[in-house]
Amino acid sequence: MDRKRIVIDTDTGSDDAVAIVMALREPSLDVVAITTVAGNVDLDKATINALTSCDYAETYLPPVYRGASKPMLSDLAVAEGLHGNDGLGDTGTLVWSTRSPEPESAAEALLKYCSEGAEIVALGPLTNIALAIIKDPEAMAKCPHITLMGGQVYEGNVKQTAEFNIWQDAHAAEIVFGSGIPITALPIEACLGEAAIFEEDWKAWRNTGTKCGRFCADINGAFMGATSKDPGGKFFTMPDPTAVAVLARPDIIRTSFTSYTRVETEGRYTKGMLVNDRRTPDSFEALSKETVLHPHNTLIVEEVWPDKFKDYILSRLSKEAVQ
Ligand code: BDR
Ligand code: CA
Repeated sequence: MDRKRIVIDTDTGSDDAVAIVMALREPSLDVVAITTVAGNVDLDKATINALTSCDYAETYLPPVYRGASKPMLSDLAVAEGLHGNDGLGDTGTLVWSTRSPEPESAAEALLKYCSEGAEIVALGPLTNIALAIIKDPEAMAKCPHITLMGGQVYEGNVKQTAEFNIWQDAHAAEIVFGSGIPITALPIEACLGEAAIFEEDWKAWRNTGTKCGRFCADINGAFMGATSKDPGGKFFTMPDPTAVAVLARPDIIRTSFTSYTRVETEGRYTKGMLVNDRRTPDSFEALSKETVLHPHNTLIVEEVWPDKFKDYILSRLSKEAVQ
């Protein structure tokens, strides 16, 4: 089987960590490098969390490269309220990696691997990727595809009009969506509703009996307690794993559409919003001669099949994944 070579760019919070474990235990993917970026937590924590997640996957150990410690043009706004102070649920029980990142920067690593044909799986703010594009757009143009968790279709999470990863560095996101590299985007809506992880799903992770199953359950355990008051029962969402899941198993995509997508960087109410133009030349709108249409650059995955998505996560955490 030809394994797809990917670079994972991550701000390693508790859902990024599950996505990293899944990717490392997916036989059709070859994680050639991991690049870290500040977002959920600061760069130091994102980096040690990435190294530690690789240790817990118990497969192979890709090189890790440190990237941007803040967005390109704005200050960092971490999400420790969601992922804990350490970014991995503050369990107090983790065995932290003793390995170190490589000396090269994330941008240098992205340029190296992408110019050699590696794809990108982006799980955080897009700062590193934008910096690589600025540094050498011709080299980055050889990147065949970016699969990213980010953006919204109808309603964001950090605010009504924007999702955290895109909002955190809207200028970087606009550079990436304007780069011409084909994109598959998993907006925040893709991991909501029936695709959320409920208590029985969470317990099944632990019941795999694997070290990575216990790790993924433990680092998300706080959500189980934190949402106990929800009338719908305990649950949490796994945004970043949706990106790895649909890359490895496109049949997990339930509904999607293509669009010409760009990112608002200035709006008082809309900074960080994905502007998804679905119009095509045969759209029913009365297109005046002034109407400008653009070739679609993005596949937006609105929904995944809940059972297929959750079964896939569980299959990656099970001991059979690496036999
Ligand atoms: C995104 O924000 C972070 O909290 C998660 O890791 C995910 O990448 C969801 O909006
Ligand atoms: Ca993330």
